[in-house]
Amino acid sequence: MSDKILIAYATKAGSTGEVAEAIAEELRSGGAEVDVSPAKDVKNVSAYTAVIVGSAIRMGKLLSDATKFVKKQQDALGQVPVAYFVVCMTMKDDTEENRHTVESYLDPMREVVEPVDMGLFAGAIDYSKLSFPARTMSRAMKVSEGDFRDWDAIQAWARQVHSRLTER
Ligand SMILES: Cc1cc2nc3c(=O)[nH]c(=O)nc-3n(C[C@H](O)[C@H](O)[C@H](O)COP(=O)(O)O)c2cc1C
Repeated sequence: MSDKILIAYATKAGSTGEVAEAIAEELRSGGAEVDVSPAKDVKNVSAYTAVIVGSAIRMGKLLSDATKFVKKQQDALGQVPVAYFVVCMTMKDDTEENRHTVESYLDPMREVVEPVDMGLFAGAIDYSKLSFPARTMSRAMKVSEGDFRDWDAIQAWARQVHSRLTER
């Protein structure tokens, strides 16, 4: 039987969904069957042999759709290997200190279900896609505009996580 993997993601402006799709493509080329869905739309995870949960970061926090999903599915997620990824601007500078900061963003989900792996990725901001409050907030926080997603790093992590999720 081939692996059937769910990628559930939480996004505000779309870039995390595109990262989820890129991970899915890589897993599919490795032979897995993969479904990709916004976390808030997932009803049941019992059909999957492994689950990946991804979230954007806003104001130093995971999006609530991701944390709610993990809490709601806690029992089922405890039965299968789970991996997490985050997409955020802190990873634009891939330093040890920033990795440490971004790993700590994942604590609210890690406290519920411990993952076999974590992908930490730089994200993207297009001010024209943001709501007025979000745009004002990002300007105030001096969050850089631009697309800093490193597709090679995302694909490399997808290959790595595929083998971790299917180790038996
Ligand atoms: C209002 C706002 C607040 C943000 N806060 C943070 C933050 O605290 N830390 C961080 O690393 N990135 C932060 N970001 C960057 C986002 O995580 C990044 O742009 C991500 O790619 C957005 O994902 P999305 O397009 O799926 O919503 C923020 C972006 C916005 C618009």
